[in-house]
Amino acid sequence: MASRFSISQSQLFLKKPHVIFTPKTPIFITPISKPTPSLNLFVLKSKKMVVAAAETAAAAAEEKSKKRYPGEGKGFVEEMRFVAMKLHTKDQAKEGEKEAQEKPLPKWEPTIDGYLKFLVDSKLVYDTLEKIVEKADFPEYAEFRNTGLERAECLAKDLGWLKEQGHSIPEPSSPGLNYSAYVEELSKKDPQAFICHFYNTYFAHSAGGRMIGKKVAEMVLNGKELEFYKWDGDLSQLLQNVRDKLNRVAENWTREEKNHCLEETEKSFKFSGEILRLILS
Ligand code: HEM
Repeated sequence: MASRFSISQSQLFLKKPHVIFTPKTPIFITPISKPTPSLNLFVLKSKKMVVAAAETAAAAAEEKSKKRYPGEGKGFVEEMRFVAMKLHTKDQAKEGEKEAQEKPLPKWEPTIDGYLKFLVDSKLVYDTLEKIVEKADFPEYAEFRNTGLERAECLAKDLGWLKEQGHSIPEPSSPGLNYSAYVEELSKKDPQAFICHFYNTYFAHSAGGRMIGKKVAEMVLNGKELEFYKWDGDLSQLLQNVRDKLNRVAENWTREEKNHCLEETEKSFKFSGEILRLILS
């Protein structure tokens, strides 16, 4: 039966000495704040009230942490996605928030030579990522072997086909060489930052990368769909499997490690952006 002497939460913090009788439940005496000679106030609280106050505080803390880390409630991948989407411009994706560059962007005029450079440099980066997870300097990398998202082999086929068509295949250029060297080094010492690049590279390609590929193919390859843009099996299921693995790996990270991973997103955009720009070179 509910006590006749019910009390609101705010009453716990009343300044005046306040006595609450709850005859059937044990009574605790708790100082409101550190007692001083001038203010020596005590509140008698029932055990139920202490529990209720603790629950309210826990709910408030949870609410606060949701606000601090958007997407957190749905798992760490949602946090990474949230940060990445904000780094897009509005033109790139509707969730984008980044201001478009003030200087006018180069005209969207892809060239076959530029596209070949892009494919060669992309292959170098995927080769590197896929070797890193094979080697697995950190045991969690092994989770990301054979996910079905791998792109290095597809790109090798595409470059083989393009060569057969009479195109000369360039050597990798600095955007790809720089990015590849960067992730290689990072993977040996900083798993959280490495995972950020892993996530962004594969997921960006499955989203915006596909849109770009389709447009470029229409303009410079007579609409030929390259292997780079085909996956064995259901892509959304493959992506979901990788999201689940990423979420599981990140469950073992501290908040600081998670934040460190999120902070790396900008670098991922910078390096990948340079490779994307090769299309227009
Ligand atoms: C011209 C450049 C780009 C365009 C046009 C573009 C466009 C898009 C679009 C349309 C989406 C899908 C949004 C949705 O789910 O509704 C997307 C998602 C995404 N993009 Fe980009 N993007 C670009 C560059 C990048 C770069 C450089 C990165 C990072 C390396 C990146 C990372 C991501 C990620 C992580 C997602 C989320 C994918 C997912 O939820 O599965 N994007 N992008």
